[in-house]
Amino acid sequence: MSVKPTSPVPVRWRKEVQSVLITDEQIARRIKKMAREIERDFRGREMVVVSLLNGTVIFLADLIRQLNLPLRLDFIGVSSYGAGTKSGELVFTKELRLDVRGRDVLLVDDILDTGKTLSRVLPKLKALKPRRIKICVLLDKPARRAEKIKADYAGFSIPDFFVVGYGLDYAERYRNLPFVGVLHPHVYKNKI
Ligand code: IMP
Ligand code: MG
Repeated sequence: MSVKPTSPVPVRWRKEVQSVLITDEQIARRIKKMAREIERDFRGREMVVVSLLNGTVIFLADLIRQLNLPLRLDFIGVSSYGAGTKSGELVFTKELRLDVRGRDVLLVDDILDTGKTLSRVLPKLKALKPRRIKICVLLDKPARRAEKIKADYAGFSIPDFFVVGYGLDYAERYRNLPFVGVLHPHVYKNKI
């Protein structure tokens, strides 16, 4: 699903956010549809949701409350070094604790960009011998893909903008915006 800018940026954020790319209503509607798709594929089997910290927290909270099937939830912490807009070196900050052997896993991330994050996480998860792994992301930025990774469920396909909000950050800020917005380049160029 592609998106076009629709609604004005709330006054509070106008200096830092240049446009609202996806509104909270659009996100909510899309998540309901994704949840129905996931339910259909998992056919009531209990799943282990493995969510990548920290960017997924808001998406995850909304997604799992729409899933009408049994699930267990765990997290893997990943962080790319540095505070910039480019993915740097990846470090694991929290390991998975649930046993996923023989289980159906739903791997959740906020955005699939270059694919480097998921291509590091997937082999780690596969080594734990789950029955299958399905990948679910809120956003997909196909223009920047460098690794051969595809999401099984992707909320919105977006152009190559640096976006923040609804869990996504720039230097750990803006995660609390209820919408997905395009960050003004001056924010990361001049570091205001
Ligand atoms: P990848 O490893 O390049 O696929 O990027 C995945 C990670 O980079 C995401 O989980 C985000 O944390 C971060 N990221 C990529 N693009 C954006 C963006 O436009 N805004 C905020 N974070 C992003
Ligand atoms: Mg991030």
